[in-house]
Amino acid sequence: MCGIIGISSNKSVSASIINSLKKLEYRGYDSAGIATLSDGEINEVKSEGRVDSLEKNFDLKNLKGNIGIGHVRWATHGVPNSVNAHPHSSYNVSVVHNGIIENSTILKKHLISKGHNFKSQTDTEVIVHLITENLKTSELEDAITKTLKQLHGSFALGIVFKDMPDLIVGARRGSPLAVGYGPNENYLGSDSYALKSMTNKITYLDDGEFCIVKKDQVNFFNDEGKKINKKILELSSDQANYDKGDFKHFMAKEIEEQPNTIKTGIKEYIDNVNKDINIPNFPWKIEDITSITLIGCGTAYHSCLLSKYWFEELTSLDVSIDIASEFRYRKNRFKKDTLYIFVSQSGETADTYAALDLCNKNRMKTCAVVNVIESSIARDSNFVLPIHCGPEIGVASTKAFLGQILILYILSLKLGSLRGDIKKISYQEKIKDLKTLPKLIEKTLLLDNDIQSISSTFNEVKGSMFLGRGFSYPIALEGALKLKELSYIHAEGYPAGEMKHGPLALIEEGMPVVVLAPRDNYYKKTISNMQEVIARGAKVLLITNKSKNEVVSENIWETIEVQDTNDDLLPFLLTIPLQKLAYYSALKKGYDIDKPRNLAKSVTVE
Ligand code: F6R
Repeated sequence: MCGIIGISSNKSVSASIINSLKKLEYRGYDSAGIATLSDGEINEVKSEGRVDSLEKNFDLKNLKGNIGIGHVRWATHGVPNSVNAHPHSSYNVSVVHNGIIENSTILKKHLISKGHNFKSQTDTEVIVHLITENLKTSELEDAITKTLKQLHGSFALGIVFKDMPDLIVGARRGSPLAVGYGPNENYLGSDSYALKSMTNKITYLDDGEFCIVKKDQVNFFNDEGKKINKKILELSSDQANYDKGDFKHFMAKEIEEQPNTIKTGIKEYIDNVNKDINIPNFPWKIEDITSITLIGCGTAYHSCLLSKYWFEELTSLDVSIDIASEFRYRKNRFKKDTLYIFVSQSGETADTYAALDLCNKNRMKTCAVVNVIESSIARDSNFVLPIHCGPEIGVASTKAFLGQILILYILSLKLGSLRGDIKKISYQEKIKDLKTLPKLIEKTLLLDNDIQSISSTFNEVKGSMFLGRGFSYPIALEGALKLKELSYIHAEGYPAGEMKHGPLALIEEGMPVVVLAPRDNYYKKTISNMQEVIARGAKVLLITNKSKNEVVSENIWETIEVQDTNDDLLPFLLTIPLQKLAYYSALKKGYDIDKPRNLAKSVTVE
């Protein structure tokens, strides 16, 4: 999704801005641009496509200026082309923007009536002209305060001014924005990845705040334009995670990193000496929680759905789950004894954040399961359970999914044990089994060759289905999501028992159907559903776990066997072949695996 970088320095900034924009590429975008200030002019360059196209189309080495802003755009208002790319400029103001201005149509009409000319189809351009207009009658701080009050919707902004060549203004409402501090220069960035190669000293703006960034000084203001003090945070350095190493794609690297994701999670949360789960500083009394609501989007929502089965199996809590974009607009019955858990890799997803904000405003108990611990969702939740899987750069979530489900499994075990819902012996056995998981994942990752050859068949078809029951149903949904987002093949995930109620009509000769049938309580039922699709011509890829018992059908097209383990842990292993299937299908089709079309890593608009 859109990304912002701004640099105010004592030396030329265009090369550093390009570098930082490349760091933001993982977010997914369709055009890019830069504006610098030099010799009393705004120098604006922008291009459709990747940052590479910007470099090809313009002589950026000769783009002068010690101050500048850059942007990668993920189109919301107006097609992705060079005119709609950011920055947008008037004769004296240039703006980059993440978010959506909801009242742009009304503002535009008003500004046109005042003689302003618009070049693009974007909502962003109204901000440029509003500031230009407000600067006619007010000093900088007042003009910014006034402009921000006129805007409805969400934004993170970077703004430079022809007549004030020593400063950048940053402002935030709804979309994240950070300030970074360096030697003889300071920065603005829409996330810490953009800034990490330059500094580890960061201040996050809160909603409604703005800042003025100069090379040797940064000032912060609240929504009334009053100066405020903000803390400087130090970020951990994990530079190796930003490198693909020997892998062709970040996604391939992140899939292979999963044993480590689980090892780190276990190290953080399992107390080996006492054979216990350690969740330090849990802020609530266990008897004050009688129900749980889990909320997320996309893959994170699938984590919530899977964990519902664990929470119901291991605790006597009432459990509900919700898609964040639905939750935020429903008439919710908020209950004091409910724990609201927000699951997000980035911690910046606009819908998930809005759902959290709603719960906070209703004074609910809020807990974040996030990967980026400096994120808005982490900062604004009462309690945080970090995933600790390191930066996930590939747009399709892989290791973060395994990290999320690990934390949710650990939490369900701990709450089950504290409430007396599971026996001590069973609790300790499950902890013991959990410690074997990294090795089991390592072995499952070795299924590579089988999946590579199977993936060719998927590329020749119009559509596919993924079926599972119980714990395997959310994994079927996740497998279908991975395949569609990476290889653009239509894929539907269904509870296997639901096929007769409609979807069976889609089955035709040769259609690939992935059936997840581990040898758990649902095995026999799922195998019956599998026979029904085989009888109608489907080519079934059965994914199950190793067992001495033979598989029951002769007409299965292909079988993949993951390692055997206790039923609770099978979803971790079943996920791996599905991630690889999606990866190899996209690879064979030659698609941009780390940046699939139309998608973004961090969805900061609703
Ligand atoms: C799919 C994927 C998305 C994200 C979703 C939520 O592979 O990555 O569906 O899971 O956009 O993102 P986070 O977890 O950052 O809130």
